[in-house]
This record gives sequence, structure tokens and C-alpha cells, in this order.
Amino acid sequence: MQNGYLKVEQSPASRGEVALSGAKNAVLVTIASLILTTGKSVLYNVPASADVFEMIELLRHFGAVIFFDTEHHQLFVDTTLLHAWDVSGAMMKKTRTSILVMGPLLARFGKVRIGGQPGGDAIGKRPIDYHLNNFAKMGVVIYHEGDDLCADVTKLIAAKIVLEYPSVGATENIIMAATRAQGTTKIINAACEPEVFNLIACLTKMGANIKVEAPSTIIVEGVDVLHPVEHTIMFDRLEAGSLLIAAAATGGEIYIPNACADVLDVVLLKLEEMGHAITIGPNNIGIYLKSTQSPRAVSLKTGPYPQFPTDLQAPMMALQSVACGISVIEETVFESRFHHAYELMKMGAAIKIEHNKAIITGVDKLHGAEVVANDIRATMALVVAGLAAQGTTTIAGLHHWKRGYDALENKLQRLGAKVTVHEENHDHSFFPVRPEPVEGNERI
Ligand code: UD1
Repeated sequence: MQNGYLKVEQSPASRGEVALSGAKNAVLVTIASLILTTGKSVLYNVPASADVFEMIELLRHFGAVIFFDTEHHQLFVDTTLLHAWDVSGAMMKKTRTSILVMGPLLARFGKVRIGGQPGGDAIGKRPIDYHLNNFAKMGVVIYHEGDDLCADVTKLIAAKIVLEYPSVGATENIIMAATRAQGTTKIINAACEPEVFNLIACLTKMGANIKVEAPSTIIVEGVDVLHPVEHTIMFDRLEAGSLLIAAAATGGEIYIPNACADVLDVVLLKLEEMGHAITIGPNNIGIYLKSTQSPRAVSLKTGPYPQFPTDLQAPMMALQSVACGISVIEETVFESRFHHAYELMKMGAAIKIEHNKAIITGVDKLHGAEVVANDIRATMALVVAGLAAQGTTTIAGLHHWKRGYDALENKLQRLGAKVTVHEENHDHSFFPVRPEPVEGNERI
């Protein structure tokens, strides 16, 4: 089920134009938010990545009727007949985002039953205490029955929520629950990632009443009913950053016409500090990168938006491995997000790990190796390294690549990169290529 690998050969300079897909981190929570509505919604710009199919399966389990037009990236979801509020342990393990159905289910049914902890990338402990403790503040009674986590509430009540850390998932979950709570909820130190704002835009179209106050307070006034929507998922800023980094690793020149520069400020700053030339299109849309042939190493620290995104730390580390000089990368978001460093070392990278810091001394050349990716962004890092490395790199952990990206290998290939996907089994229950419409409900 988890077999398959990526094969990467040293590649010529990437050249050309490449379009982005919809953002994984925006679409998953937006699909969950549809539980708040009763009726037929349409989401546009939906990437066909494995995590999206898992979320579709979860909503189907609750009773949603769903058709995914993967060719046009449109998702049709009818939530009229939702009738279940339980998430099995097996479902919960598949993706961490499964926890994001908790807020909407509490708002709709006043109850949730969850089997076990959410899954997702192995990048740290990833507890859900901010979610649970703050639902408790909103009147939810949380208890265990065997291995199941149960939550009940008669009517969600507004609360003042103070997040110790601006957790993206907790912010999103609380916002969704608060849209249907009695009174006005204030979330202090909320996450301000662009994907949170994409969710807020969708909820506002549904009829939610949400305000944002500087620097990071989100105020949600509960309403009685939310309506189905048509909503477009934002383009994937992490895919944009990854493509720019991959192009830079090959000394290439690429243009991403639909990339929004405003949501990549620190990433672009760091690429410019390395010596790469960045040109931004009108209205800050469209990013053109022309690589320098003698990239300087730069240091960086990850953090909540608008700081350098932890999700681009791994590919950026691969890029620093072949830059001139020493780079220090400090990871502050997740406590175990350096597994890829050890795999990069197998390819000749000179990296020393000290607690949450990686000290990277740039080398002239990496060499191909057999490596293993254990999270989505590690696959990208190892692809970046493989493009620049002499020889052939094989990367085990293909399922992580598929979870996060919609056939990104095809985009890279069109730019000249020698990246291929090799499936070792065809278990479509894991990755259903095209879910069939339910009979009688072909299009909703
Ligand atoms: C989301 C993104 C993920 C990204 C991360 C940080 C999605 C689907 N995933 O993950 O790609 O890397 O934001 O930008 O949007 N924490 C707690 N208790 C909690 C919740 C979080 O201690 O209840 C901690 C985490 O362990 C972590 C930090 O807070 O150290 C940030 O996590 P969080 O922002 O919640 O990440 P996710 O929402 O899981």
C-alpha cells in the first residue's frame, strides 16, 4: 500500500512557464467546512491529490453526495443528507486534517465520535490539545469511551479563546465551530496563514459573520444558518515556493503566472539574498525567477505566517546544500522536522544537526543515492537534491508525494526535470484515481 518511489536524474536547467494547482492546505479545511451547510456547493481549483480523495471519502461516510470532476478541478458536494458524526480510527490515521471535521460536526450535530489520534506527516508530536481545550471552553463536554474520543454539546457558546501558539488547524476548527455558536467568539493570537483567510472568505460567502483585527485577532459572531457556496481555492503558495527552489537548484529560469507574490514575501527575500533574480508581475501576480550561477548560502528561521514557512524548510535545505558558504536553518514550528537532513547527507550534503538547528556547509556536488522521504515536504526536498545531484536518486515514500501534490512530476518534467513516478502496486482503495458519481446524482 505504501510502495512506489520517485526516480530523479541530474537535470538540465529548468526552463519555461508553469501553472500552480489549488492549495492542499486550503482545500482540505474548505471541504470540511461544507458540513456546516445543508445543500449543494461547488469548489473550484481543487487539486487531485491523495489527501483530497481521503477528505472526500470522509464526507461521503457522513452522507455527502460528491462528484469530483478532476479534469476541470471542480468538486460538487451535496450535504443535504448528512447523517453520521463518527470518524473511525482508520480514517483518522490517514490524514491529520480529519481533525478539522470536529468543529463543523459539533456545529451541525452537537456531537462527534473519533477513533484515535489524527494521522498526517511524522514531523513531531502534533497534539490536538488546543482544539479540545478550546472546544471545552465553548461548552463542549469531551470524554473517552474505550479508545474513542467523544464530544457532546447542546448549543455551542461563544468564548474568548487565547491560543498559546497560532496553530493553523486549531484556529480553523474554532472559527468553524464559532460560526454557529451563540454569541461572539474572539480568537486571540490566531493563525494568519493565507489558507485561514481563504477559509474565512468561503465561510463569509456562506453567511458567517467574521472580522479580523490587527495584529491577529479573529472575531466570529455566531449565526443561525449557513448556506451552500461556490468558492475558488487559492493557488498553492507552497507549490510555488517548491517550483522556484527546484528551478534555482538547476540554475534555471522559470515563470509562474498565477503565483501571488504577496504570500511568499520571505521566501522570495531569501531567494534574492542567494543571488537569484526575482521579477514580480502587475498587481503582485506572476513570479519570474532567473537563477544565479553562483548562489550564496543564506540562513533562515521558520515561523508562523508571514515568517518563512516550515513547509518549505526541507526543499530550502536541499538548495542550501549546494550553495556557496554556510547556512543555518532553525526550525521553530515542529520539533522533529529534520529527517530529510539525514537523507540529504546520504547524497553528500554536509549537514550538522544541533537541536532545532541545521548547519549546512554547501558542497560543489551531491551524488545520487537511495533515500527515503517520511513526509510530504521531504519528498520535495529530495527531488530538489536529486535534480542537482550527479547520477540517479530513488526516493521511497511516493505516497507522501501523492498526498501533497497533484501530479507535480508532470509540471517538473515540462520544465526539463528528469523526475518519474514508479508505482509498485495499484491499490486503488488507497488512491482512487477518479471517484465515480453516485448513481442518480451525477452532477449536483
Ligand atoms: C498546518 C498545515 C501544515 C503546516 C502547519 C504549520 C494543513 C493541512 N497543514 O498543520 O502543512 O506545516 O500548519 O504551518 O493546513 N500544536 C499543539 N497543539 C495543538 C495544535 C498544534 O501543540 O492542538 C502545535 C504543533 O505540534 C506544532 C504547532 O502547534 O508544533 C503548529 O501546528 P499547527 O499550526 O496546528 O499545524 P497544522 O494545522 O497541523
